[in-house]
Amino acid sequence: MDAHKIDLVQQSFEKVAALGLKAAELFYSELFAIDPSLRAMFKGSMQEQHKKLLSALALVVRSLHTPEKIVGAVEKLAVKHLDYGVKPEHYTYVGNALLRTLKKGLGSEFTPELSDAWVDAFRMLAHIMKKAAYGSAQAGIRGASLSMRSWCPGAESNHRHRDFQSRALPTELPGRRPASSRRGGERGAL
Ligand code: HEM
Repeated sequence: MDAHKIDLVQQSFEKVAALGLKAAELFYSELFAIDPSLRAMFKGSMQEQHKKLLSALALVVRSLHTPEKIVGAVEKLAVKHLDYGVKPEHYTYVGNALLRTLKKGLGSEFTPELSDAWVDAFRMLAHIMKKAAYGSAQAGIRGASLSMRSWCPGAESNHRHRDFQSRALPTELPGRRPASSRRGGERGAL
């Protein structure tokens, strides 16, 4: 990701984080709307989970300029998610729930440019986590793109795929979602 995109993500995250736990509540309601079966995975207190998610996201977002400092922790977190029963496709649902949360939280400030910057940031995070948990084959190298050069050396050679992916997905991350949650007009390719 270039420095400008990182700045956009960081500034917008601070605005959404200012909503406090409401932002996390909104995120989980979007996530469970996308796939209601995911609710059963969360066995602990949802309030605690809201706090944990917000602080993990805050750490990731605030480290976008110095990702090397947190890659190890992010990889460990990903492996821990295997025990929760998390599957590779769930990262797409989580990414889309995040985008919907940002859209609702920021309203008209959630511009296409900002959306694009968040898609880059989330793809980068999801790539690292999926690679750590499931190996390269499931990590979505194509979707990861040029943007993750600093996080994942070698990924730049895949940049030519990005335009195709971006054109196909103007607002949301690609992914197959349960038919019941697909909304009219949304694309669910991948
Ligand atoms: C994409 C980035 C993600 C981040 C930053 C993240 C962050 C976290 C954190 C910080 C925890 C708490 C871990 C602990 O207690 O030590 C957690 C737990 C959990 N996460 Fe994630 N997560 C991510 C992706 C996902 C995905 C894709 C799913 C699938 C639905 C998921 C489902 C869960 C579940 C089920 C738990 C355990 C909740 C419980 O104990 O009740 N997470 N996550």
